[in-house]
Amino acid sequence: MTKIISISIFKGGTAKTTTAVNLSAALAQLEKKVLLVDLDQQASATRHIGINPEKEAPNLFHVFNKQITPSLAVKKTPFGFNIMPGNSLLAAIEESLEPGDEKFFKELISGILPEYDYVILDSPPGKAMLAINALSAADEVIIPLQAERPALDGVQDILRFIQEIVWNKHNPNLKIGGILPTMFKRTTTHSSGVIKKAREIWGDKVFDIEVPESIVFPRAFDQGAPLTCIDPEHDGAKAYFKLAKTIYEKS
Ligand SMILES: Nc1ncnc2c1ncn2[C@@H]1O[C@H](COP(=O)(O)OP(=O)(O)OP(=O)(O)O)[C@@H](O)[C@H]1O
Ligand SMILES: [Mg+2]
Repeated sequence: MTKIISISIFKGGTAKTTTAVNLSAALAQLEKKVLLVDLDQQASATRHIGINPEKEAPNLFHVFNKQITPSLAVKKTPFGFNIMPGNSLLAAIEESLEPGDEKFFKELISGILPEYDYVILDSPPGKAMLAINALSAADEVIIPLQAERPALDGVQDILRFIQEIVWNKHNPNLKIGGILPTMFKRTTTHSSGVIKKAREIWGDKVFDIEVPESIVFPRAFDQGAPLTCIDPEHDGAKAYFKLAKTIYEKS
């Protein structure tokens, strides 16, 4: 059975893309068949693996436009997983989707699911239609929690949205896969205080994993490769391997 995992939080810049890319690579390193879908018009996941999104066609825009079958937009990466690239034209798709279109993406990709063990969705920030399409299509959601105090409100916000809107209207079976502490600063007590608070509120929904804050992540983005492939022994890569293993052992 294919498992669709959306990496989602409406708050921007909390390591959604970094998590989507490294989790895809780590699952592929565990010999799983993985498709990463870049639903963000910024196309950061596509850039993160060294593809220039503006030169890559066909891409997810053409899939949403029904110009091609989804499998034609799938591209092999050198990192063991496949990607459906994003593009700035997804902004036009965002504009054109209307209330009632929340399950549009789920229907579009249903045909290619059997080819994969995992489909990882890199969700855009904001509470707009493509982000909601990701939550509607997913079997489970992983919520990256940047280890800073305002991020707790961001987690509360998406959990409330899932409980009140997604479960009622679009995807009653969506599971909360877990909350992943990211950008964890080891040099101060602030990050550990935030994660402690998160565990008081959400208990074991908070993964027993802390992705450390490290310059190696933006560097890996610049190099166009996942950290798990560039430096698998780095603590940051190990955190994502642990996440992949936790997900794999649960399913
Ligand atoms: N553990 C980390 N340590 C240091 N920097 C990180 C870490 N994780 C991510 N970053 C950096 O933080 C920035 C934001 O990360 P990322 O793009 O993954 O977030 P995002 O949630 O996808 O953002 P957006 O909401 O814009 O899509 C990037 O420059 C990324 O390289
Ligand atoms: Mg992103």
